[in-house]
Order: sequence, then structure tokens, then C-alpha cells
Amino acid sequence: MRVLELYSGIGGMHYAFNESNVEGDVIVSIDVNTVANEVYRHNFQKTTKNISRNIQSLNINEIRKFNIDTILMSPPCQPFTRVGLKKDSLDKRSESLLHILKLIPQIETLMYIIVENVKGFESSNTRNELVKCLEMKFNYKELLLSPCQFGVPNSRQRYYLLAKRNDLNFCFKDSSIINCLPDNILKILPQSRHRLLAIKDGCLNSTNCYKLRHIVDEIVEEKYLISEKILQKYSSIFDIRNNNSHGSCCFTKAYGHYVEGTGSIFCPYSDEIINENFQKLKNYREVPLEELKLLIDLKLRYFTPKEVSRLMCFPEDFSFPNSITNKQRYRLLGNSINVHVVSQLIFLLNHENANS
Ligand SMILES: C[S@@+](CC[C@H](N)C(=O)[O-])C[C@H]1O[C@@H](n2cnc3c(N)ncnc32)[C@H](O)[C@@H]1O
Repeated sequence: MRVLELYSGIGGMHYAFNESNVEGDVIVSIDVNTVANEVYRHNFQKTTKNISRNIQSLNINEIRKFNIDTILMSPPCQPFTRVGLKKDSLDKRSESLLHILKLIPQIETLMYIIVENVKGFESSNTRNELVKCLEMKFNYKELLLSPCQFGVPNSRQRYYLLAKRNDLNFCFKDSSIINCLPDNILKILPQSRHRLLAIKDGCLNSTNCYKLRHIVDEIVEEKYLISEKILQKYSSIFDIRNNNSHGSCCFTKAYGHYVEGTGSIFCPYSDEIINENFQKLKNYREVPLEELKLLIDLKLRYFTPKEVSRLMCFPEDFSFPNSITNKQRYRLLGNSINVHVVSQLIFLLNHENANS
């Protein structure tokens, strides 16, 4: 594959491509966010041309010059998110994708496409435009998948569209949206370290995940401890996980500065100790100062950006330049993708056998 990575951010799609072991290269990556591009270049300087550019300004001749056969893209999700205004194709942030959809039928060399977005995209007008642009030359499949279906202890349900030029066979038969990969498809996938870890942790059922102890660092800087102010106000809504937990909530770009619904909190102690202390707190909405020690003693902390990157299946050698602040790291990770899930989809997209 010769890949054009659009909306490349910190390179989640690039890592997914590498993990898939499909032969080829990511030739060009494009994103308008210079901070994300700094991270991208820090990790892929030698292999990929990274362009800081508004995708809406790309023209067909420029794309033809890249001589690519694959597009991997995760366009902005704000127009489709559950909590947003859901302005869909009328949102300005959809314009660049609608522009790319006009160009796609003109890219003669294009054979494969993957699009990732939030749950909700599947019922959008923009999704209908995407499908319309593919109809002439491509077959496509749509999926709603979460990393926890792959043994990874993190929820992040996302929409995926896989498209293949219509003279190439798909290994999926389903025509409706696929909510979990069927057994015959799972059999095609190479054995992954995530599934092996899950089996090692006693999870025989394919929907169970390995324990968080595999991704958690034992020694973590004090700056990750939850402040007393946040403990006092928000402890009743924390999603607390420990080493033995088999899951965690989706980490969003606001993780680390907002608490509600932005991701899980880590506690180094057992469930028994956590429950014991919380029972003593008698369901206070706001914890009185004299009881605060019960929470401080639990050493509740944020997952570090490195731990979040592991939950999103970035490889261990992925790193941020020192200049990138913690707030920026959470933001960029929250905008990114689960590398393992996409790597499996790239593998399947490249798989030739239609009857598996
Ligand atoms: C959902 S994130 C994709 C993240 C990426 N896949 C990753 O692994 O980090 C969307 C990205 O699109 C970029 N973006 C949004 N509008 C853009 C535009 N018009 N032109 C170029 N990049 C754009 C944002 O800067 C952001 O990095």
C-alpha cells in the first residue's frame, strides 16, 4: 500500500499501518494542527513527509502527484458527537471532508480507504455523502467497534468504514453495520499480544480484557495525584480503576482538567480498601474537609499520558517532544484513535480471500 494519511494528528493511523504488517509506506501525512504535527515529525521524521496544511486547500493534481493507492483518515468528529450540536454537514468542520469526497472519484490510483469517526457518524448526512462518493468505484463495509472487543481494557466505540475498489474482494459478507467481528473473521486475524494477555489473565470469553496492571507504571510523579479540591467536589462521580480492573472509560481530550465523563481515575489499592473508604463517606455530594483524608489516603491519580497511550495501543517507542505540555498530550491522545483496532482493520482490508 502507498498511503496518504489525512487528519494525521499524532500518527495513530501510521502506527496502525505499521502494526498491520501490510507491505508499503505512509508516503504523506497532512494535518492543520502544528502541535500535532510536531509530535508526528518527532516520531516519523525519517519515514514520512508531514505537511501542515488545511486539507480543504488540496487540489486533485497535488494528490495525483503523491501516487497513493490508500487513504487512511479520521476526520474531525465534533460535528457528530453525542454532546455537540450535531450540525453534521452544515458544521464548518465538515467542509474539508466534503471537499475530499469530491476529489476521491478523481484519484485513479486509489484502491483502499479507511475512515474512522465517532458513534453517531453512521446516521449522519455526511456519512450518506461519503457512501454516495464511493458507490461508483468501491465496495464498502461499516463497523462499530470498541478496543475491549479485542482484549484491550478500554472503551472507545467508534465508527469505521472500509472501502475497497470494486474489482477487489472483501472478506466480509455482511451488508449491514457490523457491531462485532464474527468468528470467521477473527480467525483470519493474526494472534495479537492483546488477546494473548487477556487469555493469560483468565479471560477466555473473547469480550474480556487483560488487567490494567499490564499498562500501569508503578512509580508515577506526584503531579498526577488528584487535587484536594477535585477530590472534595467530584469524588462521587469518579470512575475508579485499579491494577485488577479489566477495563477503563474512553479518554477524551479534556482528560486531566475536567473530571466528569473524560476518562477513568487510577487507585493503587485493592477494591476492598477503595470500597471501605468510600462507604465511610456516606454518599456525600461534596466531601466535608474533616473526611477528606479518607480520599487522600487512597492516592487517587490520573492515568499518565504514557499509560493512556498504552491503552490506545501506541507502541512503547511512541513519545512526545519535551516541549509538549501535559494538557496538550491528553488533548492529542483524546483526539487520536485506537491503534490496534485500526491495525486489524487494515489487515482485513488487505486480506484477499472473499470466502473466509
Ligand atoms: C480526530 S483527529 C485525528 C487524529 C489522528 N488520527 C491521530 O491519530 O492523532 C482530527 C484531526 O484533524 C485535524 N483537522 C481538522 N480539520 C482539518 C483541516 N481542515 N485540515 C487539516 N487537518 C484538519 C485536527 O487538527 C486533528 O488533528
